Amino acid sequence: MLECMEILSIATQKGINVYAVKGNWQLDRSIQSKIIAMAFSMATEIERDLISQRTKEALKGGRFVKTIIIDADEQEYGTNPIAVRETDQYQKEYIKKFVEKWDDLIDWDKRAKGEGNFVIDLLKARGVKRVLDVATGTGFHSVRLLKAGFEVISSDGNVNMLAKAFENARRHGFVLRTVQADWRFLTRDVHGHYDALICLGNSFTHLFTKRDRRKALAEFYAALHHDGLLILDQRNYDAIIDNGFSSKHIYYYCGDNVTAEPDYVDEGLVRFKYTFADNNEFFLNMYPLRKNYVRQLLHEVGFQTIETYGDFQEIRDEETPDFLIHVADKRYVSLSRAKPEKGVT
Ligand SMILES: C[S@@+](CC[C@H](N)C(=O)[O-])C[C@H]1O[C@@H](n2cnc3c(N)ncnc32)[C@H](O)[C@@H]1O
Repeated sequence: MLECMEILSIATQKGINVYAVKGNWQLDRSIQSKIIAMAFSMATEIERDLISQRTKEALKGGRFVKTIIIDADEQEYGTNPIAVRETDQYQKEYIKKFVEKWDDLIDWDKRAKGEGNFVIDLLKARGVKRVLDVATGTGFHSVRLLKAGFEVISSDGNVNMLAKAFENARRHGFVLRTVQADWRFLTRDVHGHYDALICLGNSFTHLFTKRDRRKALAEFYAALHHDGLLILDQRNYDAIIDNGFSSKHIYYYCGDNVTAEPDYVDEGLVRFKYTFADNNEFFLNMYPLRKNYVRQLLHEVGFQTIETYGDFQEIRDEETPDFLIHVADKRYVSLSRAKPEKGVT
């Protein structure tokens, strides 16, 4: 709005006539138009001052995460990329160029086939209606759930991702209800309560401190109804750290002519390299979450039952899944009635 007013005011000052066909009004050289242009100019200045004041106040009150860089040309890792182990790094990783390629990497059709109806069936079995997708990315799950008839709110901390998701959803005939929200401040920015919350596509791995993981999970917990469900997945990092990397390439990153492989691994960092058909390379620095550590955290923030699946099925001893899916239930269970959980080792 501010920009529109500013453009109209500059156009009038420069003697450019503006004709709004839809609204049936015009800004030409008449006295009336000049007065309107002056009003636009004043309103722009007042609004600019107010934005500046609000921003300063918010910064003083510590209500903002650091500066959010969204239009960098290159991913930024400094001189020693493997030393970069910070939660805010995801903003410097999901730059426009990488986001534009994300769908080549995941291939929506193949991914839908690999995943089947696991998430949809689970949500339907629980009578879920309202879902919050907190790691919307380019919108794969949000769109799938909208198609399946759920009410979906799509949030993500990264603006490039949300913009791409909105565009993708339009092509599928939906207007996505998006909110930019970092998980650590989720309930500040996303209001209301949900029957289910999903954090999928190996997203939670972007948090680099235990403090941030706890805070994010506590925010997820708070955004759920008293009997809500959280579905959160991750790569099988135990396997990567203990046995080395292997992938069936059929669940998440299904695109042809794209490779996704670790470039560096230690107990505190897995740096993945994504190479595309045009030889473009991107990286993601991620924290290698061990399965039982995540289950423990989920219990600690209050989830009562946690079932862990491997590659969208019950985990069988003889198999090493690529991905683990935790289904955490907020419904209260008294100790005497607790059943053995799936995926416990
Ligand atoms: C690996 S992508 C997965 C995207 C999508 N769910 C998918 O499966 O394709 C991780 C997503 O998590 C988001 N993300 C990472 N850290 C975040 C944080 N602290 N708060 C909110 N979103 C975050 C990123 O912006 C990105 O869209």
